[in-house]
Amino acid sequence: MTEMPAALEFDSVSKEYRSVFSRQCLRALDGFDLRVEAGEIFGFLGPNGAGKSTAIHIAMGFMRPTSGQGHMLGRPFGDAWTRRHVGFLAENVALYHRRVDRLLCFYGALNRMGGTRLGERAREVLQMVGLQDQAKRNAGKFSRGMLQRAGLAQALMNDPKLLILDEPTSALDPLARVMVRELIRSAREAGKTIFLSSHLLSEVELICDRVAVLHRGKLVRLGRTADLLQSTEQTEIVTRGVALQDFAGAVTHDGVVSITVPISTQRGVMQRVWELGGEIVSVNPVRRSLEQVFLEVTADSQPPQTDGRL
Ligand SMILES: Nc1ncnc2c1ncn2[C@@H]1O[C@H](COP(=O)(O)OP(=O)(O)O)[C@@H](O)[C@H]1O
Ligand SMILES: [Mg+2]
Repeated sequence: MTEMPAALEFDSVSKEYRSVFSRQCLRALDGFDLRVEAGEIFGFLGPNGAGKSTAIHIAMGFMRPTSGQGHMLGRPFGDAWTRRHVGFLAENVALYHRRVDRLLCFYGALNRMGGTRLGERAREVLQMVGLQDQAKRNAGKFSRGMLQRAGLAQALMNDPKLLILDEPTSALDPLARVMVRELIRSAREAGKTIFLSSHLLSEVELICDRVAVLHRGKLVRLGRTADLLQSTEQTEIVTRGVALQDFAGAVTHDGVVSITVPISTQRGVMQRVWELGGEIVSVNPVRRSLEQVFLEVTADSQPPQTDGRL
C-alpha cells in the first residue's frame, strides 16, 4: 500500500535569525517536526513570537530554513508547481492600491488562470468573503478587517488544495469570524486541507480536527482537539436528591447538583451520594478549555508530547 503524501510536512526544521549589527542569533524554530494529513483542518497554536509565521514562511518558500527540510503537497518547500495549488493568507495583508476585483484577477493570472473564468472567479470569491459590494473599491483604502477579507479572497482565487492561513481572524469582527469559520468548513467538505495559525485558542477549538502547540520554536503538544481538552484528573458527578452543602464546591443548575472531584475520589463521592439517598444522573470527564492547556504547556518546558502520528 502506498502511503498518501502529507499535505504539509516539516522535518526537523530550525531557523536562526542573525542580527548583522549585534552578532546576536535568535532561534525562532528549533528542530520542528510536523505532519499534516490531506483533508484535515489543522490548528497551529502558539503565543506571539512562538515561531508560527516563521514556519509558514519557510513552508511557502519565502525563506530557507537554517537546517532541516519539508514538503508541501508532496514536493519540497519552495517548489513552483506547489505554489499554484496553495492559497496563502499572510498575517499582515498588504495589497496594491488597485480596485479589489482587478487585484484578484491579477493574482489569478499569476496562477495561470485566464479568460472569462478569471472575472467569474473574482466575483465568486468576493461573494464568499462578503466583499461583493466593494469589488470596485481601491484596496488601498480598506480597513484592516476588509483587507483581511480581501486577502482571504486572494488566497481562494486558484481553488487551492491546501489553504494556509496565518492568523486569519485577527482583524475581524465576530460576524466575519463566523463567516471565515463557515468558509473553512466548506473548504474541507470540498476536500481541501486547511492549516490555520492562531493565538486565539477559542477560534481553533471550534473548527480544528487536530492542533499543534508551538512554544519558543518547539512543538510542545500535538493531538486531536478533543483529546487535548479532556482533563485526565477531574470528573464531574451530576446528582439529584442531595443537598448542595453536603459536598464542598458543588454547584446547582437546572435542578441537579453537580460535583467536580479528582478522579481518584470519584468512587467514594458516588458512594456518599447514594448513602445520602441521592441519585446519580451522569458522570462526565471534565473538559479543559484550550486556554488552560495553553497556559499549562507554556508555563513549563516539557518535552514534546505527540499523538504518535509523527
Ligand atoms: N525577519 C526577522 N528577523 C529577525 N527576527 C525575526 C524575524 N521574523 C521573526 N523574528 C523573530 O522570531 C521569533 C518568531 O517570530 P514569528 O515567527 O513571527 O512568531 P509568531 O508568528 O508565532 O508570532 C520572534 O522572536 C520574532 O521576533
Ligand atoms: Mg505570526
